[in-house]
Amino acid sequence: MRKLAAGNWKMNGAPGSEAMLADLAAAVPQPGCDVLICPPFPLIPAFLAAAPGIGIGAQDCHWADAGAHTGDVSAHLLAALGVSAVILGHSERRADHGETSALVAAKTTAAQAAGLTAIVCIGEREEDRDAGQALSVVDRQLWDSVPEGATGENLVIAYEPVWAIGTGRTATAAQIGEVHAASRAALVTRFGAVGRTVRILYGGSVKPSNAAEIFAVDDVDGALVGGASLKAADFAGIVAAAAG
Ligand code: 13P
Repeated sequence: MRKLAAGNWKMNGAPGSEAMLADLAAAVPQPGCDVLICPPFPLIPAFLAAAPGIGIGAQDCHWADAGAHTGDVSAHLLAALGVSAVILGHSERRADHGETSALVAAKTTAAQAAGLTAIVCIGEREEDRDAGQALSVVDRQLWDSVPEGATGENLVIAYEPVWAIGTGRTATAAQIGEVHAASRAALVTRFGAVGRTVRILYGGSVKPSNAAEIFAVDDVDGALVGGASLKAADFAGIVAAAAG
């Protein structure tokens, strides 16, 4: 499967940050994998203009098409801008905004209906793993956060163990392989052959120095990268590893 190297800028960047995309494109002239950058909403138009060939995504959307939802952004407005994907259910939104898997599923339905690829994030907390419940927590999140109607184009799963995000503590290849294999099996049980075409990304302290090892794990179809996606040189190293 063609890999996806996706950068989640979170609440970082500033006007002018789109210059990074030119540096990235210059560093990796022919990526050989799909590349996506998800900046904060206000930077999206400039990022879209700056980088033909690099997909631009958003970091959230609302479940409704329009209406009285102050501060929220609809999926179809994002699609109309030219955005191709949206991250949904990131652990930071689950923790900071109390997002439930049911809400994430509703947002995913809206994103897919608008023609966007929904990147649905799942991942256990450290206490879940310590209690031997990593697989059951992730399986529950996967089941509850993903609505019917998945295809290889409208759905991407991102496994991001919460304890590995922004900590420098990457999950081991064995830990990643176990969760990705279980997630693949769950997708196939739910969606049949289509479940084999849904990309499963790993996220959590991915950097150029560990990307190749992570991408070599079975059923790792790319990465969702936070901190290392903010620097063109670092992200280029990850893109190069994804391109294999
Ligand atoms: P880091 O790569 O900074 O650990 O962040 C991962 C992440 O949360 C991507 O969505």
